[in-house]
Amino acid sequence: MTLKMNTLAEYKKVYQESVDHPEAFWSSQAETFSWSKKWDTTLEWDFDGPNISWFKGGKLNITENCLDRHIESRGDQVAILWEPNDPSDQVKSYTYKELLAEVSKTANALKEKGITKGDRVIFYMPMVPELAIGVLACARIGAIHSVVFAGFSAQALADRVDDAQAKMIICSDYNRRGQKMIPVKQVVDDAMDIGCNSIEHVIVHKNTGDKVNWSDDSDYWWHELVDSQSDHCPAEIMDAEDMLFILYTSGSTGKPKGVVHTCGGYMVYTCFSFKNVFQYEPGDVYWCTADIGWITGHSYIVYGPLLAGATTMMFEGVPTFPDAGRFWEICEKHKVNQFYTAPTAIRALMACGDHFVEKYDLSALKVIGSVGEPINEEAWHWYNDKVGKGNAPIVDTWWQTETGGILITPLPGITDTKPTYASYPMPGVQPILVNAEGVELHENDVEGLLCIKFPWPSMIRTTYGDHNRCKNVYFSPFPNRYFTGDGARRDKDGRLRIIGRVDDVINVSGHRIGTAEVENAINEYDQVVESAVVGYPHEIKGQGIFAYIIAKEGVKDVDAFNLGVRTMVTKVIGPIAKPDQILIVSGLPKTRSGKIMRRILRKIASKDTGSLGDISTLLNPEIVEEIKAALS
Ligand code: WTA
Repeated sequence: MTLKMNTLAEYKKVYQESVDHPEAFWSSQAETFSWSKKWDTTLEWDFDGPNISWFKGGKLNITENCLDRHIESRGDQVAILWEPNDPSDQVKSYTYKELLAEVSKTANALKEKGITKGDRVIFYMPMVPELAIGVLACARIGAIHSVVFAGFSAQALADRVDDAQAKMIICSDYNRRGQKMIPVKQVVDDAMDIGCNSIEHVIVHKNTGDKVNWSDDSDYWWHELVDSQSDHCPAEIMDAEDMLFILYTSGSTGKPKGVVHTCGGYMVYTCFSFKNVFQYEPGDVYWCTADIGWITGHSYIVYGPLLAGATTMMFEGVPTFPDAGRFWEICEKHKVNQFYTAPTAIRALMACGDHFVEKYDLSALKVIGSVGEPINEEAWHWYNDKVGKGNAPIVDTWWQTETGGILITPLPGITDTKPTYASYPMPGVQPILVNAEGVELHENDVEGLLCIKFPWPSMIRTTYGDHNRCKNVYFSPFPNRYFTGDGARRDKDGRLRIIGRVDDVINVSGHRIGTAEVENAINEYDQVVESAVVGYPHEIKGQGIFAYIIAKEGVKDVDAFNLGVRTMVTKVIGPIAKPDQILIVSGLPKTRSGKIMRRILRKIASKDTGSLGDISTLLNPEIVEEIKAALS
């Protein structure tokens, strides 16, 4: 529910209360939902396991809370409003009643194809309503969804299918993105050739109707399966701690890991945060521009808004088609009240010129949000002045796939905003800063590593199939704390500013990319001996990808080599991980134990070579000068 707060002082009071009595705080939130059976204990936890259990003993189905619960009060209100890629195509909308019917039909179709509670279903789809419907249909019957962003390659898709041991893939025939058509079904076919042995059926949603290859053994058209189903499907009763979904995300080592979220806590937290961060009021039109392939789309296009009974918009297209005014044209057309996007989009649109935003009426906007990466000062002011126009405060929301929901953010109209600051923790959330030794830094005006010291309902429970990995990555670095991987600064008034990742994760246009993943992909190119990948500041993307590569023998045609590298990365991961810059080098700076000194490579790539620090401990200090010279 929306907390009653109007001032910073009131926020501080509510916050203190939530920290002093967390169980009372969260159980009063949980009571606003419909449960088949009430929970026995609000919270059991230890960060050592980690073993985290919220609302244990409680039974529920999240879709009853997203859909059935609203039918009486707002059955005819629009639940999902869909804006197509091409502005001249028809807008679609589903009322809560219609959405419940579609979800039920789809759930029945999944059952008919043998999907039952606990089975994993992979989605590889564009931003069409059927993606949200399919995800909810899984939740309806207790199947675990795992949405893979449709920009990932066949190899990356197959890796995720295999890790999840999924039984089904749901995809579209083609995706529309601006003027491009992406052959999604073909990518799924390729993934099936590489791996995906656990897959029994592929369901294909007809999006464009263009020709696709077909396997009579495993492929089924969505409409042929779904349209004839009953629009009634009883909801599977789930334990609060049953798995709801897996979402793969990159870390500093190894392959992407499957972050696991569970039903009860995720439900309570996404609804609570949605209502309070966006101050959603009945009748508002809310729009988050993210893709459902990322956590932002899960929590703040699908679950949070629907749990809150909101009208949530889905957009199929891209910000620059037909031109760089598209976002603002859509805001005017649908009288959008809350708008939520990423700094990379803001920077890209800002660079296209003010006239694209100035010609539209944005007066309906009440709150504008930012997510996914640090927002720089210039972009913050442009967003505030040109889009918010002084009427709509910016919520710079910090969170992660692993946190499930927004943890640090200004609250519009309640707490203040300060450029580039995510500001204050949400009630119920206890972030701290620690130094490298793990000692908590209590004072203000200080910089440190961002940890959370107490559980919150939507936190990661495990990494799928490998609980130890979850422990090692998030809970081992600092005992008894969840470590975020981010560095942060606290100003003299206690506001937090997120500086960025302190591990080997690069944030490219708000997408998390592990350097190790990119290196592994580059190393698969047969001309490559070894590579090291780092991030560097990029004007539009926030960070770009810089690859230092040792090539096999003298490279005669550098352009052909670079193209080969980029093609390989596109094949193994997807175009989002393609290096922006490639430098062929004869060696990489290494410590005596053979570890690449990325710190030095990061500085060189960032053109910050004034103080490279102590390089005397390197095995090959001479390589540093050589690399610097090669770059200039
Ligand atoms: C970064 C996205 C600065 C951060 C929801 C985090 C941010 C990573 C912000 C998670 C913000 C997210 N300011 N940095 N407001 N929001 N980040 O898992 O480095 O895709 O660790 O979740 O994005 O990315 P993820």
